[in-house]
Amino acid sequence: MKTVGIVGAGHMGSGIAEACAVAGVDVVVHEPQTAPLVRSRERIAASLDKAVARGKWPPHAAADALRRIVHTTTLEELGGCELVVEAVTEDEAIKTGVFRRLDARLGPDVMLASNTSSIPITTLAAATTRPDRVLGLHFFSPVPVMRLVEVIPAFATAPETVAAAEAFAEQIGKHAIRSKDRAGFLVNILLIPYLIHAVRLYADGFGTREDIDDGMRLGCGHPMGPLALCDFIGLDVIDGICTSLYDEYRREEYVAPPLLRRMVTAGCLGRKTGRGFYDYAPAHARAAA
Ligand code: CAA
Repeated sequence: MKTVGIVGAGHMGSGIAEACAVAGVDVVVHEPQTAPLVRSRERIAASLDKAVARGKWPPHAAADALRRIVHTTTLEELGGCELVVEAVTEDEAIKTGVFRRLDARLGPDVMLASNTSSIPITTLAAATTRPDRVLGLHFFSPVPVMRLVEVIPAFATAPETVAAAEAFAEQIGKHAIRSKDRAGFLVNILLIPYLIHAVRLYADGFGTREDIDDGMRLGCGHPMGPLALCDFIGLDVIDGICTSLYDEYRREEYVAPPLLRRMVTAGCLGRKTGRGFYDYAPAHARAAA
Protein backbone atom coordinates (compact mmCIF):
# COMPACT_ATOMS: atom_id res chain seq x y z
CA MET A 1 0.00 0.00 0.00
CA LYS A 2 1.32 3.47 -0.84
CA THR A 3 -1.51 5.60 0.53
CA VAL A 4 -4.04 4.64 3.19
CA GLY A 5 -7.02 6.69 4.34
CA ILE A 6 -8.36 6.80 7.87
CA VAL A 7 -11.86 8.06 8.68
CA GLY A 8 -12.06 9.13 12.32
CA ALA A 9 -9.27 11.04 14.06
CA GLY A 10 -9.78 9.79 17.62
CA HIS A 11 -7.48 7.63 19.73
CA MET A 12 -7.68 4.59 17.42
CA GLY A 13 -7.68 6.47 14.09
CA SER A 14 -4.66 8.54 15.15
CA GLY A 15 -2.83 5.41 16.34
CA ILE A 16 -3.49 3.60 13.05
CA ALA A 17 -2.29 6.68 11.13
CA GLU A 18 0.92 6.77 13.21
CA ALA A 19 1.60 3.05 12.73
CA CYS A 20 1.16 3.41 8.94
CA ALA A 21 3.31 6.55 8.69
CA VAL A 22 6.28 5.13 10.63
CA ALA A 23 6.18 2.17 8.23
CA GLY A 24 6.57 4.55 5.27
CA VAL A 25 2.93 4.62 4.15
CA ASP A 26 1.35 7.97 3.20
CA VAL A 27 -1.78 8.60 5.24
CA VAL A 28 -4.83 10.82 4.76
CA VAL A 29 -6.88 11.25 7.96
CA HIS A 30 -10.42 12.54 7.51
CA GLU A 31 -12.94 14.05 9.95
CA PRO A 32 -15.62 16.59 9.00
CA GLN A 33 -14.58 18.99 11.80
CA THR A 34 -11.21 20.74 12.20
CA ALA A 35 -10.86 20.52 16.01
CA PRO A 36 -10.51 16.70 16.21
CA LEU A 37 -7.98 16.84 13.38
CA VAL A 38 -5.87 19.35 15.30
CA ARG A 39 -6.05 17.15 18.42
CA SER A 40 -5.12 14.11 16.32
CA ARG A 41 -2.00 15.79 14.95
CA GLU A 42 -0.96 16.84 18.47
CA ARG A 43 -1.60 13.33 19.78
CA ILE A 44 0.47 11.73 17.00
CA ALA A 45 3.31 14.24 17.46
CA ALA A 46 3.36 13.56 21.24
CA SER A 47 3.36 9.79 20.68
CA LEU A 48 6.20 10.06 18.15
CA ASP A 49 8.16 12.24 20.59
CA LYS A 50 7.71 9.57 23.24
CA ALA A 51 8.89 6.88 20.81
CA VAL A 52 11.99 8.99 20.04
CA ALA A 53 12.65 9.56 23.76
CA ARG A 54 12.41 5.76 24.29
CA GLY A 55 14.90 5.18 21.47
CA LYS A 56 12.33 3.49 19.17
CA TRP A 57 13.00 5.84 16.25
CA PRO A 58 15.67 8.44 15.43
CA PRO A 59 14.27 12.01 15.49
CA HIS A 60 14.37 12.38 11.69
CA ALA A 61 12.29 9.20 11.21
CA ALA A 62 9.59 10.59 13.50
CA ALA A 63 9.62 13.93 11.65
CA ASP A 64 9.34 12.08 8.29
CA ALA A 65 6.42 10.05 9.67
CA LEU A 66 4.54 13.19 10.72
CA ARG A 67 5.10 14.71 7.28
CA ARG A 68 3.55 11.62 5.67
CA ILE A 69 0.22 12.30 7.44
CA VAL A 70 -2.28 14.72 5.91
CA HIS A 71 -5.30 15.73 8.00
CA THR A 72 -8.33 16.87 6.00
CA THR A 73 -11.99 17.78 6.42
CA THR A 74 -12.62 16.88 2.74
CA LEU A 75 -13.78 13.31 2.16
CA GLU A 76 -12.80 13.47 -1.53
CA GLU A 77 -9.12 13.69 -0.52
CA LEU A 78 -9.35 9.98 0.27
CA GLY A 79 -9.77 9.39 -3.48
CA GLY A 80 -6.11 8.46 -4.03
CA CYS A 81 -6.07 5.78 -1.30
CA GLU A 82 -5.90 2.05 -2.01
CA LEU A 83 -7.41 1.24 1.38
CA VAL A 84 -9.59 3.31 3.72
CA VAL A 85 -9.88 2.24 7.37
CA GLU A 86 -12.96 3.49 9.23
CA ALA A 87 -12.34 4.21 12.93
CA VAL A 88 -15.32 6.35 13.97
CA THR A 89 -17.57 6.05 17.04
CA GLU A 90 -18.73 2.50 17.84
CA ASP A 91 -22.30 3.06 16.64
CA GLU A 92 -23.85 0.92 13.93
CA ALA A 93 -25.89 3.73 12.34
CA ILE A 94 -22.90 6.10 12.23
CA LYS A 95 -20.56 3.46 10.83
CA THR A 96 -23.10 2.32 8.24
CA GLY A 97 -23.50 5.95 7.13
CA VAL A 98 -19.73 6.32 6.75
CA PHE A 99 -19.52 3.14 4.64
CA ARG A 100 -22.39 4.35 2.45
CA ARG A 101 -20.69 7.73 1.88
CA LEU A 102 -17.28 6.19 1.21
CA ASP A 103 -18.84 3.76 -1.26
CA ALA A 104 -20.57 6.60 -3.12
CA ARG A 105 -17.51 8.88 -3.30
CA LEU A 106 -14.54 6.51 -3.80
CA GLY A 107 -13.51 4.50 -6.87
CA PRO A 108 -14.76 0.89 -7.07
CA ASP A 109 -11.28 -0.59 -6.48
CA VAL A 110 -10.73 1.06 -3.10
CA MET A 111 -10.81 -1.45 -0.24
CA LEU A 112 -12.86 -0.46 2.81
CA ALA A 113 -12.04 -1.75 6.28
CA SER A 114 -13.62 -1.18 9.68
CA ASN A 115 -11.80 -1.06 13.00
CA THR A 116 -15.03 -2.01 14.81
CA SER A 117 -14.65 -4.19 17.87
CA SER A 118 -18.22 -5.46 17.90
CA ILE A 119 -20.38 -4.54 14.90
CA PRO A 120 -20.79 -7.33 12.29
CA ILE A 121 -18.58 -6.58 9.28
CA THR A 122 -21.24 -8.11 7.02
CA THR A 123 -23.68 -5.36 8.15
CA LEU A 124 -21.19 -2.66 7.09
CA ALA A 125 -20.36 -4.45 3.82
CA ALA A 126 -24.08 -4.65 3.01
CA ALA A 127 -24.25 -0.84 3.06
CA THR A 128 -21.91 -0.74 0.05
CA THR A 129 -21.96 -1.86 -3.58
CA ARG A 130 -18.54 -3.55 -3.11
CA PRO A 131 -19.01 -6.16 -0.36
CA ASP A 132 -16.18 -8.21 -1.93
CA ARG A 133 -13.78 -5.36 -1.06
CA VAL A 134 -14.91 -4.82 2.55
CA LEU A 135 -13.48 -6.46 5.67
CA GLY A 136 -12.65 -5.88 9.32
CA LEU A 137 -9.20 -4.74 10.43
CA HIS A 138 -9.31 -4.62 14.22
CA PHE A 139 -6.35 -2.86 15.84
CA PHE A 140 -5.45 -2.82 19.54
CA SER A 141 -4.75 0.13 21.79
CA PRO A 142 -2.21 1.71 21.92
CA VAL A 143 -1.90 0.97 18.20
CA PRO A 144 1.74 2.08 17.81
CA VAL A 145 2.73 -0.40 20.53
CA MET A 146 0.36 -3.37 20.15
CA ARG A 147 1.47 -5.75 17.40
CA LEU A 148 -1.84 -7.47 16.70
CA VAL A 149 -4.42 -6.89 13.98
CA GLU A 150 -7.48 -9.10 13.64
CA VAL A 151 -8.45 -9.59 10.00
CA ILE A 152 -12.15 -10.34 9.65
CA PRO A 153 -13.53 -11.41 6.28
CA ALA A 154 -17.25 -10.68 5.99
CA PHE A 155 -19.77 -12.97 4.27
CA ALA A 156 -18.84 -11.87 0.73
CA THR A 157 -15.23 -10.65 1.14
CA ALA A 158 -13.05 -11.80 -1.77
CA PRO A 159 -9.92 -13.88 -0.96
CA GLU A 160 -7.77 -11.22 -2.73
CA THR A 161 -9.09 -8.57 -0.34
CA VAL A 162 -8.11 -10.72 2.65
CA ALA A 163 -4.67 -11.39 1.17
CA ALA A 164 -4.12 -7.67 0.51
CA ALA A 165 -5.17 -6.80 4.07
CA GLU A 166 -2.82 -9.39 5.55
CA ALA A 167 0.04 -8.09 3.39
CA PHE A 168 -0.77 -4.56 4.59
CA ALA A 169 -0.68 -5.69 8.24
CA GLU A 170 2.76 -7.20 7.66
CA GLN A 171 3.91 -4.05 5.83
CA ILE A 172 3.19 -1.93 8.90
CA GLY A 173 4.87 -4.41 11.25
CA LYS A 174 1.73 -5.99 12.70
CA HIS A 175 0.95 -9.64 13.22
CA ALA A 176 -2.37 -10.60 11.58
CA ILE A 177 -4.70 -13.25 12.91
CA ARG A 178 -7.87 -14.18 11.04
CA SER A 179 -11.25 -14.36 12.75
CA LYS A 180 -14.73 -15.31 11.68
CA ASP A 181 -17.23 -12.42 11.52
CA ARG A 182 -18.80 -13.16 14.92
CA ALA A 183 -19.27 -10.82 17.88
CA GLY A 184 -16.04 -10.40 19.84
CA PHE A 185 -13.92 -11.89 17.05
CA LEU A 186 -11.07 -13.84 18.71
CA VAL A 187 -9.65 -11.43 21.28
CA ASN A 188 -12.65 -9.66 22.79
CA ILE A 189 -14.63 -12.87 23.24
CA LEU A 190 -11.77 -14.00 25.50
CA LEU A 191 -10.85 -10.64 27.04
CA ILE A 192 -14.25 -9.11 27.87
CA PRO A 193 -15.62 -11.97 30.08
CA TYR A 194 -12.33 -11.81 32.04
CA LEU A 195 -12.62 -8.03 32.50
CA ILE A 196 -16.26 -8.06 33.59
CA HIS A 197 -15.56 -10.94 35.94
CA ALA A 198 -13.00 -8.71 37.65
CA VAL A 199 -15.64 -5.94 37.87
CA ARG A 200 -18.06 -8.41 39.54
CA LEU A 201 -15.39 -9.50 42.05
CA TYR A 202 -14.69 -5.85 42.88
CA ALA A 203 -18.40 -5.02 43.17
CA ASP A 204 -18.90 -8.04 45.47
CA GLY A 205 -15.99 -6.98 47.71
CA PHE A 206 -13.72 -9.95 47.00
CA GLY A 207 -10.72 -7.60 47.06
CA THR A 208 -9.61 -4.02 46.61
CA ARG A 209 -9.11 -2.71 43.11
CA GLU A 210 -5.34 -2.64 43.75
CA ASP A 211 -5.25 -6.25 44.96
CA ILE A 212 -7.34 -7.47 42.03
CA ASP A 213 -5.04 -5.65 39.60
CA ASP A 214 -1.82 -6.66 41.36
CA GLY A 215 -3.03 -10.25 41.35
CA MET A 216 -3.04 -10.38 37.57
CA ARG A 217 -0.07 -8.04 37.05
CA LEU A 218 2.32 -9.67 39.47
CA GLY A 219 0.84 -13.17 39.52
CA CYS A 220 0.30 -13.63 35.80
CA GLY A 221 2.62 -11.07 34.20
CA HIS A 222 -0.12 -8.96 32.60
CA PRO A 223 1.08 -5.40 31.83
CA MET A 224 -2.08 -3.99 33.46
CA GLY A 225 -4.57 -5.44 35.92
CA PRO A 226 -8.16 -5.93 34.67
CA LEU A 227 -9.68 -2.84 36.35
CA ALA A 228 -6.89 -0.58 35.09
CA LEU A 229 -7.39 -2.13 31.65
CA CYS A 230 -11.15 -1.42 31.82
CA ASP A 231 -10.29 2.25 32.47
CA PHE A 232 -7.77 2.20 29.63
CA ILE A 233 -10.21 0.72 27.07
CA GLY A 234 -13.19 2.81 28.26
CA LEU A 235 -16.13 1.50 30.28
CA ASP A 236 -18.60 2.58 27.58
CA VAL A 237 -16.66 0.57 24.99
CA ILE A 238 -16.72 -2.50 27.24
CA ASP A 239 -20.44 -2.04 27.88
CA GLY A 240 -21.05 -1.87 24.11
CA ILE A 241 -19.04 -5.03 23.47
CA CYS A 242 -20.98 -6.83 26.26
CA THR A 243 -24.22 -5.88 24.49
CA SER A 244 -22.93 -7.22 21.15
CA LEU A 245 -21.72 -10.46 22.75
CA TYR A 246 -25.02 -10.98 24.58
CA ASP A 247 -27.07 -10.16 21.46
CA GLU A 248 -25.15 -12.74 19.48
CA TYR A 249 -24.78 -15.62 21.98
CA ARG A 250 -27.44 -14.99 24.69
CA ARG A 251 -25.10 -16.21 27.44
CA GLU A 252 -25.38 -14.78 30.98
CA GLU A 253 -21.59 -14.46 31.26
CA TYR A 254 -21.65 -11.60 28.72
CA VAL A 255 -24.14 -9.41 30.59
CA ALA A 256 -22.48 -6.18 31.79
CA PRO A 257 -22.34 -6.03 35.62
CA PRO A 258 -24.63 -3.39 37.21
CA LEU A 259 -21.61 -1.48 38.62
CA LEU A 260 -20.16 -1.06 35.13
CA ARG A 261 -23.54 0.14 33.82
CA ARG A 262 -23.92 2.66 36.68
CA MET A 263 -20.42 4.01 36.11
CA VAL A 264 -21.18 4.49 32.42
CA THR A 265 -24.43 6.28 33.28
CA ALA A 266 -22.51 8.50 35.72
CA GLY A 267 -19.99 9.40 33.03
CA CYS A 268 -17.12 7.60 34.80
CA LEU A 269 -15.77 6.05 31.61
CA GLY A 270 -12.15 5.60 32.65
CA ARG A 271 -9.06 7.51 31.57
CA LYS A 272 -10.82 9.52 28.90
CA THR A 273 -13.12 11.21 31.43
CA GLY A 274 -10.51 11.31 34.22
CA ARG A 275 -12.41 8.85 36.38
CA GLY A 276 -13.19 5.15 36.29
CA PHE A 277 -12.10 2.48 38.75
CA TYR A 278 -9.19 4.87 39.40
CA ASP A 279 -9.09 8.65 39.46
CA TYR A 280 -6.78 10.11 36.81
CA ALA A 281 -7.27 13.81 37.51
CA PRO A 282 -4.62 14.34 40.23
CA ALA A 283 -1.19 12.71 40.10
CA HIS A 284 -2.18 10.24 42.82
CA ALA A 285 -5.01 7.72 42.38
CA ARG A 286 -8.02 7.64 44.74
CA ALA A 287 -10.77 5.07 45.05
CA ALA A 288 -13.54 6.07 42.66
CA ALA A 289 -16.25 3.52 43.08
N1 CAA B 1 5.67 3.97 19.10
C1 CAA B 1 6.35 2.83 19.32
N2 CAA B 1 6.62 2.33 20.54
C2 CAA B 1 6.19 3.03 21.59
C3 CAA B 1 5.46 4.24 21.45
C4 CAA B 1 5.20 4.69 20.14
N3 CAA B 1 4.52 5.80 19.91
N4 CAA B 1 5.15 4.69 22.69
C5 CAA B 1 5.65 3.81 23.57
N5 CAA B 1 6.29 2.82 22.90
C6 CAA B 1 6.96 1.64 23.46
C7 CAA B 1 7.98 2.02 24.52
O1 CAA B 1 9.20 2.34 23.91
C8 CAA B 1 8.08 0.74 25.32
O2 CAA B 1 8.83 -0.21 24.61
P1 CAA B 1 9.93 -1.14 25.35
O3 CAA B 1 9.11 -2.01 26.27
O4 CAA B 1 10.57 -1.88 24.23
O5 CAA B 1 10.81 -0.17 26.06
C9 CAA B 1 6.63 0.22 25.29
O6 CAA B 1 6.01 0.84 24.16
C10 CAA B 1 5.83 0.58 26.54
O7 CAA B 1 5.80 2.00 26.64
P2 CAA B 1 5.80 2.79 28.04
O8 CAA B 1 6.97 2.33 28.85
O9 CAA B 1 5.70 4.22 27.78
O10 CAA B 1 4.46 2.40 28.71
P3 CAA B 1 4.17 1.28 29.79
O11 CAA B 1 5.31 0.40 30.03
O12 CAA B 1 3.56 2.02 30.91
O13 CAA B 1 3.04 0.44 28.98
C11 CAA B 1 1.07 -0.01 27.83
C12 CAA B 1 1.88 1.04 28.57
C13 CAA B 1 1.75 -0.34 26.49
C14 CAA B 1 -0.30 0.59 27.56
C15 CAA B 1 1.01 -1.31 28.71
O14 CAA B 1 0.53 -0.99 29.98
C16 CAA B 1 0.12 -2.36 28.10
O15 CAA B 1 0.54 -3.12 27.23
N6 CAA B 1 -1.15 -2.45 28.59
C17 CAA B 1 -2.14 -3.37 28.06
C18 CAA B 1 -2.79 -2.76 26.84
C19 CAA B 1 -3.81 -3.67 26.23
O16 CAA B 1 -4.14 -4.72 26.72
N7 CAA B 1 -4.33 -3.23 25.10
C20 CAA B 1 -5.42 -3.91 24.42
C21 CAA B 1 -6.71 -3.29 24.83
S1 CAA B 1 -8.07 -4.13 24.03
C22 CAA B 1 -8.28 -3.29 22.60
O17 CAA B 1 -7.62 -2.35 22.28
C23 CAA B 1 -9.31 -3.83 21.68
C24 CAA B 1 -10.73 -3.60 21.96
O18 CAA B 1 -11.51 -3.77 21.04
C25 CAA B 1 -11.26 -3.30 23.31
